[in-house]
Amino acid sequence: MPVTSVVGLQWGDEAKGKIVDILTDHHDIVVRYQGGNNAGHTVVFGGVKYKLSLLPTGILRPGKVGVIAAGVVINPKGLLDEMDRLRSQGIPIAENLLISDRAHVIFPYHMAEEAVMEQARKGEAIGTTMRGIGTCYRDKIGRSHAIRMGDLYHSASYRKKVSEITATKNTILKALSPEFQPLDANAIADDYAKLAEQLAPHVVDTTRYLHQSLAAGKSVLFEGAQGSLLDIDHGSFPYVTSSNSSACGIHSGSGVPERRIEKMIGVAKAYTTRVGGGPFPTELDNEIGQHIRDVGHEYGTVTGRPRRCGWLDAVATRYGATVSGVDTLAVMLLDVLSQLDEVKICEAYELNGERSMHFPSHVEDLAQVQPVYRTLPGWKKDITQIRKVTDLPKEARAYLDAVAELVGTPVSIVSVGPDREQTMM
Ligand code: GDP
Ligand code: IMO
Ligand code: MG
Repeated sequence: MPVTSVVGLQWGDEAKGKIVDILTDHHDIVVRYQGGNNAGHTVVFGGVKYKLSLLPTGILRPGKVGVIAAGVVINPKGLLDEMDRLRSQGIPIAENLLISDRAHVIFPYHMAEEAVMEQARKGEAIGTTMRGIGTCYRDKIGRSHAIRMGDLYHSASYRKKVSEITATKNTILKALSPEFQPLDANAIADDYAKLAEQLAPHVVDTTRYLHQSLAAGKSVLFEGAQGSLLDIDHGSFPYVTSSNSSACGIHSGSGVPERRIEKMIGVAKAYTTRVGGGPFPTELDNEIGQHIRDVGHEYGTVTGRPRRCGWLDAVATRYGATVSGVDTLAVMLLDVLSQLDEVKICEAYELNGERSMHFPSHVEDLAQVQPVYRTLPGWKKDITQIRKVTDLPKEARAYLDAVAELVGTPVSIVSVGPDREQTMM
């Protein structure tokens, strides 16, 4: 039985959710291992749109188990709301959802601290989703102010922790922002105790569960959130998210050694998008960028922000593919480029007069690079009804060949529309 991973190779929103949904058919268990409700994955089938944020996409399929593993940060209220929303769309969520007792919990002070920190950065704001993701991960690494899912069920020590942490957070927040209204520790402890009670049937040691399942021959699909270029260690720091959103996060986030994975699928858009701040070498701040945004409906699932759009950056995507160690590529949203006369791929960067295929480690160098483009003819045909790669216009096939060559990875999946059916494997 296969153990597979699906990971984004760019700055997120590569349509990972769609690929995970399709591959769930061939797996028993789908695992989210990092990030939180900063992620937004849209999946379409049977004419219905499903939006997932914290829940593994596999939860949409009957008979499959969804696991939220140790490396995820959880907003319990956000999670319960998402469960209710999906239930109202007819998706059953019961014992098929397992939540790690090791996962860290997002509290109201995390959102408050993030708001103060982002405001202080002014023009250099990271442009976060304001979900308290970074501040929760910071407390996890710092340890003293951290609360995990399992802590919520150890009543006496839990209340003491909330009380002490909230007092410290109130002091810090008041010092940073004089108009800040102190948070009430007792109210927070009561609220979270109620939320914890509702989640209790799902909370287990997921690391043990995953190892037992693998030993019993079950197949597992790892679902990455965000993308490799948003990885805290390997992405375009500091304009990144606060977890290992490349494939590097699978082992630490799930407790399953990466060498168990048999197939790593990298997901990339046929172009590039970015939400939030930070350098973006191939950004198109012009009518072509707006055309891509309009045709691709490039507005954030979580925050509704317009996504920044640009040509495919093969230097950045190749770097993402290398760091994540992917075997094959899924090229998504190819249909969005169908009306363009010509299409471009960034095949190298020029920095200080030198041409390079390396993704710079320093953000100021990334901001300085000039993209060197390969220009290809457009196909100018509707491809949304095509179901075989060999039936694609020859210009579209040439584009895919150039993507495979420049990203250095063979293309095994091509997507030409949001629906499950609009996929060529
Ligand atoms: P994720 O975060 O990586 O799962 O991606 P998102 O769901 O945030 O963004 C991808 C968007 O593209 C979603 O709205 C999908 O429904 C849509 N989508 C997926 N594949 C295709 C495709 O091949 N063509 C088009 N036009 N839309 C697609
Ligand atoms: P999915 O899983 C695109 C971006 C934010 C911001 C940066 C840090 O749908 O691909 P954070 O709130 O995580 O501290 O914000 O990361 N970001 C995403 N961009 N898709 C996502 O998720 C993202 N999750 C976070 O816009 O630039
Ligand atoms: Mg998304």
